[in-house]
Amino acid sequence: MEIIILPTAEEASEVAARLVARQVREKPASVLGLATGSTPCKLYDLLARKHREQGLDFAQVTSFNLDEYVGLGPDHPASYHRFMEENLFSHVNIPRERIHIPDGLATDVPAHCAAYEKAIADAGGIDLQILGLGSDGHLGFNEPGSSLASRTRIKTLTERTRSDNARFFTAEEQVPHHVITMGLGTIMESRMCLLLAFGKAKAEAVAASIEGPVTANVPGSLLQFHPRTKVLLDAESASLLQRADYYQWVYKNKPSWQTDL
Ligand code: GLP
Repeated sequence: MEIIILPTAEEASEVAARLVARQVREKPASVLGLATGSTPCKLYDLLARKHREQGLDFAQVTSFNLDEYVGLGPDHPASYHRFMEENLFSHVNIPRERIHIPDGLATDVPAHCAAYEKAIADAGGIDLQILGLGSDGHLGFNEPGSSLASRTRIKTLTERTRSDNARFFTAEEQVPHHVITMGLGTIMESRMCLLLAFGKAKAEAVAASIEGPVTANVPGSLLQFHPRTKVLLDAESASLLQRADYYQWVYKNKPSWQTDL
């Protein structure tokens, strides 16, 4: 794990945008794994700007989103389909037929999940997976207790996550209990992961994920076993890390051949 701590979420998002842009420039037919939530909004904004102003070309990119609420169609204002449309897809040129998001209206959920896994494999696997972190340490919608080997499947949200995500709905009762999410095993097969976490509310989950034991109680901690994960934090989300000074020293003193940001 490479831990990159920057003073603000904006600065951390800029580094994330440079990393994603580099991935797409080096491999135009990249397969990107995408996340929703407030955390990646700035990153998506910056990618849209790079597309507009610098010609960053997504024409050959394929994307797979992590998750979706069961019962919400693509036009529901709180669906992740709508979120992605508004925050990224309507601003860049990923071809529609190469955009994948779990279908919250799927009638045969297990078959849909198996097909989603197959589509990822058929695309050659995910090159770069963008991840946020739940305040309880969840990745995608893999709540604490998720199997570390899990694949795309239906999950039941905890009350904490329903409450955290209620701001996207008109009322907390509207937040679905069920979701479809890529599994932790699916996420772990990505060739590179970029975990973003900002703000004080994420500090405990960040510390537990990076410096705590690997446990299904904190799904983010599984990334300790991932061979190529970068974690981008702001000062607040990094505030409970015991080795923050060390991570910052490492980042500032990288050998010149490693400073690729
Ligand atoms: C949701 C999403 C996650 C996201 C998390 C954090 O539960 N399914 O992928 O990482 O929220 O959200 P936020 O970025 O809004 O804090």
